[in-house]
Amino acid sequence: MKFDTLAVQGGEFKDERIGNVVTPIFQNSTFTNPNYDPDAYLDPTTGKPFLYSRWSNPTVASLEEKYRLLEGSEKALAFSSGMGAISSTVIGLAQRGKKIAALRELYGQTYSFLLKDLARAGFTVDFYSLDELNTQDINFDSYSLLFLESIVNPTLGVADIEKIGKDCMDAGISMIVDATFATPFNQKPFEFGASAVVHSATKYLGGHSDIILGVGGFSKTVYPDVASVRKSYGASADPFQSYLALRGIKTLGLRMVRHNESAHRIAKFLAEHPRVSNVYYPLTSEKYSGIARRVLRGGGGMVSFDVKGNTADARRFLTKLSIVHPAASLGGVESLATLPVDTSHSSMSREERQAVGINDSMVRLSVGIEDVDDLIEDLDQALRAL
Ligand SMILES: Cc1ncc(COP(=O)(O)O)c(C=O)c1O
Repeated sequence: MKFDTLAVQGGEFKDERIGNVVTPIFQNSTFTNPNYDPDAYLDPTTGKPFLYSRWSNPTVASLEEKYRLLEGSEKALAFSSGMGAISSTVIGLAQRGKKIAALRELYGQTYSFLLKDLARAGFTVDFYSLDELNTQDINFDSYSLLFLESIVNPTLGVADIEKIGKDCMDAGISMIVDATFATPFNQKPFEFGASAVVHSATKYLGGHSDIILGVGGFSKTVYPDVASVRKSYGASADPFQSYLALRGIKTLGLRMVRHNESAHRIAKFLAEHPRVSNVYYPLTSEKYSGIARRVLRGGGGMVSFDVKGNTADARRFLTKLSIVHPAASLGGVESLATLPVDTSHSSMSREERQAVGINDSMVRLSVGIEDVDDLIEDLDQALRAL
């Protein structure tokens, strides 16, 4: 079956005795125990009847199966948030006595988890820039894992996960890919040798800016350790949020076709605009478009650009928008715009931001599925009002 069929039909929990068409919300903390019914449905993490929803829950397990089919992974887990997926996966795969390697240009909370929380727990984390990972021969022998994002936030550089995946395999270490910006529609990191893939399902998978949730795909080898950490740390997904994600994922393929097309058109429009000095988009980038065409099926729905002027001008631009909503998240059906200096990267100093290419007047736009002509008109009038 192909992507959209799997997205709609895959993993749904149906019981012919009821005839339900859609997976129900199993709003239960606990389940019958002992359960000797030979036909009992099984908790995928234990292979035994469901017992307690922190371990697993039928609605959550349905979401995991739907996502697993789309990701093409051997196993899958859902988490209370993208950060729950990231922290459980990194802790699950880290090994005593070995260092952790990570991309430097990460989502701020992930960076802080690696830099502060893991360091306090005694792990040494070495950071590498996107361009170092893409172009240099790095000796990964002393590491247990490499953590990276496959499209970098907010500068939208693209990781060459084909090359990096080979480097990790040569050194025998796990590559963990946060593919939130790419989604399973635009990228399949397991094809490039990933051991684990994580997503903030809050974004494109949910697709409607109404949930906080995470998912991860895993090889059979690493799955038991991550499932164990999820259970111990309590980063388990909630059945109602999982139900909303099950509903949202059904249209992921349709939405991504639109996000890909509209964002690409908007990137080209902005590149010609007299009030814009730089545009960042995987498929139009001089540096990354070659890599993007190899490792991505589409450029995705995120476009960043520098407004000519300073931060105050960029803030003023946000106030002039009438369709695009100023807000920090991304990946929903509605277009959102934010200034990384004020939100995602506000905890960094100006020097730190400049070192990773984030300019003072940068706007990060999450292109929604509204009519692209309306979006272009809105961006144009707000830019011209400056
Ligand atoms: C790339 C990326 N990974 C992970 C996260 C964290 O996800 P969540 O907010 O669902 O915990 C985010 C959030 O913005 C993100 O952009």
